[in-house]
Amino acid sequence: MTLIKKLDKLPPKREEIETLNILRQLSKSSTALGELKGIAKTIPNQAMLINAVVLQEAKDSSEIENIITTQDDLYKALSTSINQPIQIKEVINYRKAIFLGADTINNQGFLRQKDIVELQKTIIENNAGIRNIPGTVLKNDKTGEIVYTPPQEKDEILDLLSNFLDHFNNTDSDISPLINLAILHYQFESIHPFYDGNGRTGRILNILYLILNGLLDIPILYLSSYINKHKSEYYKLLNKVNENNEWENWITYMLKAIEVTSNKTIEKISSIKNLLEETIITAQDKATKIYRKELIELLFEHPYSKIEYVVSKLGVERKAASRYLKKLEEIGLLESQKIGRETIYINTKLIEILKN
Ligand SMILES: Nc1ncnc2c1ncn2[C@@H]1O[C@H](COP(=O)(O)OP(=O)(O)O)[C@@H](O)[C@H]1O
Ligand SMILES: [Mg+2]
Repeated sequence: MTLIKKLDKLPPKREEIETLNILRQLSKSSTALGELKGIAKTIPNQAMLINAVVLQEAKDSSEIENIITTQDDLYKALSTSINQPIQIKEVINYRKAIFLGADTINNQGFLRQKDIVELQKTIIENNAGIRNIPGTVLKNDKTGEIVYTPPQEKDEILDLLSNFLDHFNNTDSDISPLINLAILHYQFESIHPFYDGNGRTGRILNILYLILNGLLDIPILYLSSYINKHKSEYYKLLNKVNENNEWENWITYMLKAIEVTSNKTIEKISSIKNLLEETIITAQDKATKIYRKELIELLFEHPYSKIEYVVSKLGVERKAASRYLKKLEEIGLLESQKIGRETIYINTKLIEILKN
């Protein structure tokens, strides 16, 4: 039986979080993230980018918690009204929570405890709120061994959360925001304020923290795909901070995640931009009569599109909308598929980019 160590308040000791290794990795991560922020701005219609990338993040983050969903199922779920299985619902909810959080940060400029509760509630769809019954422990899901015991008493949880929020909202901290992101993520997971959804809520807080600090304008950083690929390290390093304040490897891990995922997202955005340009040229050339910029943008905002979307975006009749989509299919820009009684039109080339 290990002794339960009390969780320290933030911030940690300066010399533990600004080692040479951390600072070296920091400079690479900052450069990559800066580049991502820049290139994201060059996409003409930001909704196109956010929709695509956020759905991917929702999928990856949920996968860390063993909620596996295929991309196709997700897009179908977004574009049709059929009842969704719980796994798909949770991914769609995660995406909703990212948008909700980004709005809150943009409108309010800080987060309150109730905003975090709202995020978690959006993901999990229940009203349990902050834990108020002791007994929550983190177990190794293979061996069943208890790896970490978070604070048990509600007062202590609230006190730690308020310290967390002070640190989160302080945009004048002299610690680099990327180092702070790693620290805050550790702290949130270790407070583990909810019965469930702590991982996913915490990963949304990461994205919001970047926006709050002006490091991104829109929620497009993809950390969960990296964490997913290096999941056992993620758990192990969180643990090492719990056990012996081993900050260096944890912070370096998170910084590396920021570098790698920024670079991947930059590549993805360039591919999306190229495809957009090609698609516009093809449509202008082969569907001259119906070509409209907004129509093509729609295919990128909704990789799974349908007549209603065209009707509402272009303000045309159903008949015209249907004709447009059919024409775009005819010239090879879309593929149609029947789901129940609905026909959806898929931007398959975009889906390929998003998948990989
Ligand atoms: N040793 C640990 N110390 C602190 N947090 C941990 C540890 N191991 C795992 N975690 C965090 O707990 C999360 C799982 O908690 P949970 O409430 O089930 O969230 P979710 O339902 O979103 O997965 C993991 O994603 C991870 O972020
Ligand atoms: Mg869970």
